[in-house]
Amino acid sequence: MTAYDPIHERSLRDPEGFWAEVAEDLHWDRRWERVLDDSDAPFYRWFTGGQLNTCYNAIDRHVAAGHGAQTALIHDSAVTGTCSRWDYAGLQDEVARLAGLLRAQGVDKGDRVVIYMPMIPQAVFGMLACARIGAIHSVVFGGFAASELASRIDDAEPKLVLSASCGVEPAGVVDYHGLLDRALALATHEVPGCLIWQREQQPAGLVSGRDVDWAQALQTATPADCVPVDATDPLYILYTSGTTGHPKGIVRDNGGHAVALQWSMRNIYAMAPGDVYWTASDIGWVVGHSYIVYGPLLNRNTTVMFEGKPVGTPNAGVFWRVIQDHGAKALFTAPTAIRAIRSADPDGEYLRQYDISSLESFFLAGERSDPATIHWSERNLGVPVVDHWWQTETGWAIAANPLGIERLPVQAGSAGKPMPGYDVRVLNERGEEKPRGELGNIALRLPLPPGTLATLWSNRAGHHEHYLSRYPGYYLTGDSGVIDADGYIHVMSRIDDVINVAGHRLSTGRMEEVLCDHHAVAEAAVFGVNDETKGQLPLALVVPAAGKETDREALVKELAGHMRNEVGPVAAFRLCTLVKRLPKTRSGKVLRATMRKIANGEEWKAPATIDDPKILDEIGEALSDLGFPRTGAD
Ligand code: COA
Ligand code: AMP
Repeated sequence: MTAYDPIHERSLRDPEGFWAEVAEDLHWDRRWERVLDDSDAPFYRWFTGGQLNTCYNAIDRHVAAGHGAQTALIHDSAVTGTCSRWDYAGLQDEVARLAGLLRAQGVDKGDRVVIYMPMIPQAVFGMLACARIGAIHSVVFGGFAASELASRIDDAEPKLVLSASCGVEPAGVVDYHGLLDRALALATHEVPGCLIWQREQQPAGLVSGRDVDWAQALQTATPADCVPVDATDPLYILYTSGTTGHPKGIVRDNGGHAVALQWSMRNIYAMAPGDVYWTASDIGWVVGHSYIVYGPLLNRNTTVMFEGKPVGTPNAGVFWRVIQDHGAKALFTAPTAIRAIRSADPDGEYLRQYDISSLESFFLAGERSDPATIHWSERNLGVPVVDHWWQTETGWAIAANPLGIERLPVQAGSAGKPMPGYDVRVLNERGEEKPRGELGNIALRLPLPPGTLATLWSNRAGHHEHYLSRYPGYYLTGDSGVIDADGYIHVMSRIDDVINVAGHRLSTGRMEEVLCDHHAVAEAAVFGVNDETKGQLPLALVVPAAGKETDREALVKELAGHMRNEVGPVAAFRLCTLVKRLPKTRSGKVLRATMRKIANGEEWKAPATIDDPKILDEIGEALSDLGFPRTGAD
C-alpha cells in the first residue's frame, strides 16, 4: 500500500467528501448546495448552487491575503529578447482595467470573447479579464489558418475578438491582423468589434468602425470588479480536433475547474504557493490554459510564459537559460520539444552552460513519451521525469505520478496511475473489461471528476454521441491502451482519426476534407506516419481528378499551399503524393490503417475484405517515392 492508494480509493468511494475538502481552499461567494449533481446523468455537474469567481481566486484572493508584491507572471520572450514581470497587485490592476474595457465594449456575463493572440501577456490578461466579468473566452491557437478561426467564430458567436497586430515566429513575423481580417470575411457570424494589441514588430492598420486600439482604450478604462458566477457557468470554450472536420467546443465550468486545478498543482506537480512554475506550451492549447494560466495562479505560484521555441531562439540552451533566470522549480512541456533539443544537443553541452539547480521535477504530456526522450531527460536533468496523460476534454491529468503525494516507482512506457476521480477501464468492442495487460479501448467510468468537460458548446447531443454513447456509463477517451498488473496505464494510440503533430492535436478527417475541396482532387486519404521529431506527420495520398494528373509536382505543391491556407502551418503538411486509386474494402471503406502500417514499416496484412489487393503494391511504390522503405505483407 502506498500513500497514493487510499487517496485514489477514497476519491472513487466518496467523491463528494473528497472534492468538498479541496473546495474549502477556494473563496466561494456562495457555498454549493450539492457537490456532485447527478440529476441529469449521464451529464454530471459539480458544486451546483455554489458561486465563485475564478479570476478572484487566481488573483484578488492572493492580494487580499497580503501577497500583492509576489511575482505572479513572468513573460520571457526569446524571440524579441525581452522579459517583463507582474506582481499579483500589478496583475490585478491590468486585468481589472481590461475587464472594464471589455464591459465598455459591450461584453457582459455569458458573452463569448474569442482570443486569437501570440504568446504575449495581454493574452493572459484577456483570459482573466473575461473570467472577471463572467464572459466566456475561447482562445484559438495562432498557428491555425483563417478558415479554422472563422469556423470557431461561427460556432462561438463572440461579441468581441481580442487579437494582436502580429506574432513573432523564428521564420519571421506572422500577420495576425491580416489572418483575422480574412477570418472575419469568411465567417457568417458578424463580430461587432475587435480589440487589437499593436506590437512594434509590425503594427496593423486598424479597420475603422471595427477595430479598437487596445493600449489606447485601456488608458481611460474604469477597472471592473469580479462578478460572482455559478460554479456550473462556463469559464471557457476550447476547440479541439475530433474525427470530423468540425472542431468540438469543449466547455469548462468555473467551480469544478478551479477545484481540480488547485488539487493538481499541489499533489501532481508538488508546487507550494510562492514556487516558480513553468509550462512551455502555448495558451492556445489546454496545457496552456490549465498550467500557464489558471493552475499556477490559483495556487499562488509565479508562472512563466515563454515566447519562443526549444531550438533556434537562439539555440538548444534556451529552456535551461529560462530555468536559470527565473529559478523554475518545475518544467512541463511536450516530448517533441525535448526531441528537438536532444537532436540539436545530444550530449547536453548547452545544458551544462546553465545552472538549473532550482529544477526539482520535469513533466511531459501531449503525446506518447518515447523512452529515448525520457532517458535523455533523466540523464541530463537529474530530476524525476513524469510522463502524464490527459486531453483537452479532461483539462487535467487522467493518469500521472503524483509527486506531491509521493513518487510512485516509475514504469517505463507508462503514463502513471489514475488521478483522483478517474476510474480508468480498458474495454473490448462489446464493452466488457479486458484482463490486466491486454490492449483495448480506454474508457472512464462516469462520473468524471471536477474540471472535466461540462459539455460541448451548443452541442449537447454531440457530447453524448462522441463520448457517452459507445459504452453507456462510461466516457470514451478515444485512446487505446493497457492497464498493467500493477495498475499503471500505458496509452498506445488513438482509435480515431486524430493525429498528434509536435504535440498539436489535428484531425486527418479535416485534412481530407480540405484536399477534396480542391478542384483538382477526386479523392484523398490522410493518415499519420511516425516522425523522429514531431512524433507524427500527416501523409496524404491523393487521386487527382481526370485530366489533372499531368503536372504532378505542381499539383502537390499547390495542395501543400492549400492545406497551409485552410488548416494552417501547424499541420506541417509536406508529405503528399499522387496515386491512381486508393485501396478500399469491398464496401468502399478506405484502408487507412493498412497504409499507415506500410508507411511506418510495421507488420501488415491485406484485410480479407479488400477490393483489389494489387492496389497495395501501387501504394507501396508511392510511399517509397516519398522515402518510406518498402515492406512486404506478412
Ligand atoms: N502562431 C503562428 N504560427 C505558428 C504558431 C503560432 N503560435 N506556432 C507555430 N506556428 C507555425 C510555425 O511558425 C511553423 O510554420 P512554418 O511551417 O512556416 O515554419 C508551423 O506553424 C509549425 O510550427 P511548430 O509545430 O512549432 O513546428 P516547428 O518546426 O516550428 O517547431 C517544435 C517544432 C518541436 C520546436 C515545436 O513544435 C514545439 O515547441 N512544440 C511544442 C508543442 C507544444 O507546446 N504542445 C502543446 C501541448 S504540451
Ligand atoms: P490534446 O487534447 O491536444 O491534449 O490531446 C490529447 C491526446 O494526446 C490524448 O487523447 C492522447 O492521444 C495524446 N496524449 C496526451 N498525453 C499523452 C501521454 N502522456 N501519453 C500518450 N498519449 C498522450
